[in-house]
Amino acid sequence: MTATKGLEGIVATTSSISSIIDGVLTYRGINIDDLAEQASFEEVVYLLWFGKLPTQSELDQLNKDLVENAAVPSQILEQLKMYPKGVNSMAALRTAISSLALYDKEANEMSREANVRKAIRLQAQVGTIVAAFARIREGKEPIAPKSGVSLAHNFLYMLTGEQPEDIAVEALNKALVLHADHELNASTFAARVTVATLSDIYSGITSAIGALKGPLHGGANEAVMAMLEEIGTADNVESYVNRKLENKEKLMGFGHRVYKNGDPRAKHLMKMSEELGKITGNMNWFNMSTQIEELVTSKKGLKPNVDFYSASVYTSLRIPRDLFTPIFAISRMSGWTAHILEQYENNRLIRPRAEYTGPATAPYVPIEKR
Ligand code: CMC
Repeated sequence: MTATKGLEGIVATTSSISSIIDGVLTYRGINIDDLAEQASFEEVVYLLWFGKLPTQSELDQLNKDLVENAAVPSQILEQLKMYPKGVNSMAALRTAISSLALYDKEANEMSREANVRKAIRLQAQVGTIVAAFARIREGKEPIAPKSGVSLAHNFLYMLTGEQPEDIAVEALNKALVLHADHELNASTFAARVTVATLSDIYSGITSAIGALKGPLHGGANEAVMAMLEEIGTADNVESYVNRKLENKEKLMGFGHRVYKNGDPRAKHLMKMSEELGKITGNMNWFNMSTQIEELVTSKKGLKPNVDFYSASVYTSLRIPRDLFTPIFAISRMSGWTAHILEQYENNRLIRPRAEYTGPATAPYVPIEKR
């Protein structure tokens, strides 16, 4: 038995949800470029869950279900108020989502219908939790979700208490579409491994959030912004990048396990970053980002991934840096839940082997003789 480090190139399951073939990403066969330009996030949620684009009445029903389920149990809001000051936002989200199971009477009901209902509740409530957490830690009261608006609109509204501008809603909608699913990425794999034991959907999502939190995965978008802030101005870019490369340190937002010729999502975020920079009158983050991209690509051959330009996009939307990864989770909730539903449909325990590298045999030495 020989291990493949990081399971690179290992095909661990079949899936009909999303594919990456020759560098092209599709959701249910539809190119991500078309979805990014034309779809609402809610249409994508439907597509991922049910395998086809919704008709108008199917979309209306989903929107209604999402709105009706957007409020979280009051106990969750009370719990958020009790979290220690300065707690990590992804840790808070992981704990709150896990706690949702305690207030869901269907938490352990395993029929497909019940799991779809739970997927709707999770998708509807994840943004409410992130926005409530962000307000509570600033000593503000959480804002109840409103009806008749998109998930992107509602999130921005619940975060600020203000009517968001159309351009901000559009940008967030596009970012949610682009992050919604990505084949067997680490967090989705974690979710599938957990539910393949026939554990419940909340356990699967809790595992997924834990995996997304890391800086090699979803945590990279926050790390990119931290890098841009550390660099400060365009004058410092070259020396910063050179130093990182010389020290063999990673530049956040670059590289990918699957894409070697560039992440197809990055160009959409780059365009948005430029547009929002122009609208806000602050091109600094975009200009620094393009300069970093040029240097890293020419010196190391690495291309930006989805996380690189999303950092400046969210900053232009005036979203605090430590909410970037929770926003990734709001979007990926759709993909995670779709994969969990798919795993339950055709389940087998996921239990690979390990290549043993310890001693072949070792004696048991009684404690008094060690
Ligand atoms: N900066 C500098 N060098 C890099 C980078 C980077 N961002 N990414 C890869 N390399 C180098 C790495 O040092 C190694 O070089 P060498 O062969 O000389 O040792 C080579 O490229 C292969 O890297 P690896 O880490 O073995 O590749 P991997 O497939 O295991 O990791 C990755 C993929 C995305 C974790 C990695 O590229 C990385 O750490 N990137 C930075 C973090 C990041 O942006 N993560 C977001 C990923 S995309 C969205 C998501 O999934 O959330």
